[in-house]
Amino acid sequence: MRTTRSFKQDRKLERAADRCYIGTMHLRLCVGMFLLAAATACAPNSMTDSNQPPMNETASVYDRIGAAPFATLAERHYAGIDTDPRLRAMFPDDLSASSQSVRDMREFLTQFFGGPQEYSERKGHPRLRGRHMGFTIDQAARDAWLEHALKALDESAAQHGIPASCQEEIREYLIRTSQFMINTER
Ligand code: HEM
Repeated sequence: MRTTRSFKQDRKLERAADRCYIGTMHLRLCVGMFLLAAATACAPNSMTDSNQPPMNETASVYDRIGAAPFATLAERHYAGIDTDPRLRAMFPDDLSASSQSVRDMREFLTQFFGGPQEYSERKGHPRLRGRHMGFTIDQAARDAWLEHALKALDESAAQHGIPASCQEEIREYLIRTSQFMINTER
């Protein structure tokens, strides 16, 4: 038989259990909301940023920066060579923005970094080292050439706002490949 005292005790226990249940539910709700917020923030193409293009890990440098930076790079590169007595004699007379040299360089770099294959459509396989065999390229010529190429890259980056990761990829390529063009020991 239930006494008044034990009934009160029961009610107390019930209220404590209720508080505990409400507390647990509250905690679950908070954790749930936190997880939802975290998932929304991390999702690359979530509803909150549906105006942004999806992140694409495999996008080429060309996909990320477009054609203009390569045009500027090629133009600035040959503008530098045009006034450099260490290199000038090796190159054709016309190194202006509309010259064949600038076009070759622009199309080659564009193609190499994932853009339209215009260079190869026009000239066939690049065979870059083979095409350079007709010129005497020693370490000094390579260093002078690279100086202009990197300066041109900096200028293009400043003009077009090339992202740092793309700049780094292009820079690495210019450094590595120009070293590979050396065909004369002096
Ligand atoms: C990343 C390194 C280099 C790249 C991507 C590159 C790219 C090119 C391209 C695409 C051409 C046109 C070839 C053709 O289609 O006929 C070319 C020509 C030429 N390159 Fe390079 N080159 C590099 C390094 C060098 C170096 C280190 C030198 C030495 C100074 C050099 C000197 C020349 C010369 C003299 C020509 C011929 C100029 C002309 O006819 O327009 N290149 N280069």
